Amino acid sequence: MSEKKPFYITTPIYYPSAKLHIGHAYCTTIADAIARFKRLAGYDVFFLTGSDEHGQKIQRTAEEQGVSPLEYVDGIVAEFQKLWVRLGISNDDFIRTSEARHHRVVQEIFRRIYEKGDIYKGSYTGLYCTPCESYWTEHQLDENGCCPDCHRPVEQVSEEAYFFKMSKYADRVLQYIEENPEFIQPVSRRNEMINFIKQGLEDLCISRTSFDWGIPVPMDEKHVIYVWFDALTNYLTPIGFLDDAEKFGKYWPADLHLVGKEIVRFHSIIWPCILMALDLPLPKMVYGHGWLVVDGDKMSKSKGNVVDPLLLIDEFSADAIRYFLLREINLGQDGNFSRDALITRINADLANDLGNLLHRTLNMIGKFQDGIVLAPEGESEIDASLKADAMATVRAFREGMEQMKLSESIKKVWAFVSRANKYIDETAPWALAKDPEKKQVLANTMYHLAESLRFISVLISPYMPFTAKRIWEQLALPQPFDEVQLSDIETWGGIAGGHRVGAPEQLFPRIEVEKEAQPAKPQQTQKQGKQQKKAEKREEPAAEISMEDFSKIHLRVVKVLAAEKVPETDKLLKLTVDLGNEKREIVSGIAKHYEPEELIGKNVVMVINLKPAKIRGIVSHGMVLAASAGDELKVLSVDMPIGATVR
Ligand code: MSP
Repeated sequence: MSEKKPFYITTPIYYPSAKLHIGHAYCTTIADAIARFKRLAGYDVFFLTGSDEHGQKIQRTAEEQGVSPLEYVDGIVAEFQKLWVRLGISNDDFIRTSEARHHRVVQEIFRRIYEKGDIYKGSYTGLYCTPCESYWTEHQLDENGCCPDCHRPVEQVSEEAYFFKMSKYADRVLQYIEENPEFIQPVSRRNEMINFIKQGLEDLCISRTSFDWGIPVPMDEKHVIYVWFDALTNYLTPIGFLDDAEKFGKYWPADLHLVGKEIVRFHSIIWPCILMALDLPLPKMVYGHGWLVVDGDKMSKSKGNVVDPLLLIDEFSADAIRYFLLREINLGQDGNFSRDALITRINADLANDLGNLLHRTLNMIGKFQDGIVLAPEGESEIDASLKADAMATVRAFREGMEQMKLSESIKKVWAFVSRANKYIDETAPWALAKDPEKKQVLANTMYHLAESLRFISVLISPYMPFTAKRIWEQLALPQPFDEVQLSDIETWGGIAGGHRVGAPEQLFPRIEVEKEAQPAKPQQTQKQGKQQKKAEKREEPAAEISMEDFSKIHLRVVKVLAAEKVPETDKLLKLTVDLGNEKREIVSGIAKHYEPEELIGKNVVMVINLKPAKIRGIVSHGMVLAASAGDELKVLSVDMPIGATVR
């Protein structure tokens, strides 16, 4: 018997009318991050998503394609399910409204409300938007007399129909919204809903006779039940509404219905009225998130800017997309998706910050301590401050996630990733490794880094479940990753002294952006060549050069992304550097003065228009500047952004 607190979270169920796009993936990713966080925090989570398969629109499309509606939706729904698996969505159930288990629930609900007298038969004449499956009153239409949601024409419909007495519940719903400020979030949506109800609620038409792809009205089979009445009840079906009272008692009322802003109305007005008619408690929260637009524009087939999440996953990985969506967009507000912004995040935050921290740490533990994390003894001020930062990050993360501040929480975790990278530069383990007296200091440093990465792996797991697990596995921690809880990082020191870590593996490859035009190589004519040679000869004894000569040398601030020894040499390092608009490899004769790890992350000055040369089989394109005096040598490192020119 589990004593965990239950947490029931849902996404909307998606229409299988078209392919899912990145906007749908956004909605489901948010819900997944929250569900994963709650599990981590010790809740018994039930996370539901699914497909909303009935309605006239589906029936029409299926007819056009010469297949049955079910045949038509089966293929699309299989694609949804594939997408959710690839995106790492951890839903506990997937409800299809075409399933028998759901039909039973919808018909029973209809029957109960009908018997109570809150559903009656009447005649409907009204304006219907087929794509949105919504009825509108005259005063709700937009300025062109079209659907206020999708702005397409509405149809005048007149038919015998069943009505749900929404008007009876209007005051009670309004009172509930006013008395429970948490119920509709964010607050701007709450205000919209209050205004909407205050304009008056009409009874809702909940059956149609003009098509039959839907759930029949139990006492009058020529009617099918209105899709929203059918769809909303999906939230009750999988948690045992009709057949498992204990399960139902545990998960209902739902803790969170996460929905897009345009369907808050259905969830915070119509749905509460249905629940009140059933004498069921109302969900604790309906959260209306904003919309994702692409390069500043709403996605649409006609604009050809619909972004397919499966293709993006193939190209960049699920975790990179999850990270981008959760970090870039403040929940509740509209947000922008752009490929360039995604690539920038991948390169800067994932490949650089996170990837380098893991790689440097495991590499150094391997090199300096044969892969063993030795028990720490004593603690320097800087160690203590890293540890305090780790603990504060866990607290801030918990607080932020509980308040659904997803982006803010991720930023806090990344601030800690940067802190840990800085700790490497400050403690300079490569120098400690050279001093036998500093063995324990080095051991303490390596311990603090490994333990920081244990923290980071747990903290990123709601956002990037695949990467979190890979870090955990590279750290080779004995606790099964799937059993890890947030409480495991509430105390420092979870790694046992003597633990052997694994070998570093790259987490995120850097994404190459198409190279911009290379800096122009000076084109020499034969004559110019001769003149230059003459000049060189003439200038040999002289130390002076003209401004013009100097300006031929293009100097730029570049960042060292990766560094490694060139095999079978003791002088050469191969550096991978970021020039701002491109990435290059160079070979530099500084191996005697620098450990590779020491250089990673440094902004250094480089001659960028030096002719490429092949050194030990590596094409070196550029030269890092260094100052030397006697045996000492230091690269020229500056506190300026990548791409800055040096003059
Ligand atoms: N079937 C109904 C929901 C019934 S819930 C009982 C529906 N389906 S939908 O497929 O049109 O939309 C599902 C969700 O995807 C909605 O919450 C909607 O806001 C969201 N999104 C669709 N496009 C979106 C963006 N471009 N950006 C963010 N979310 C968007 O409505």
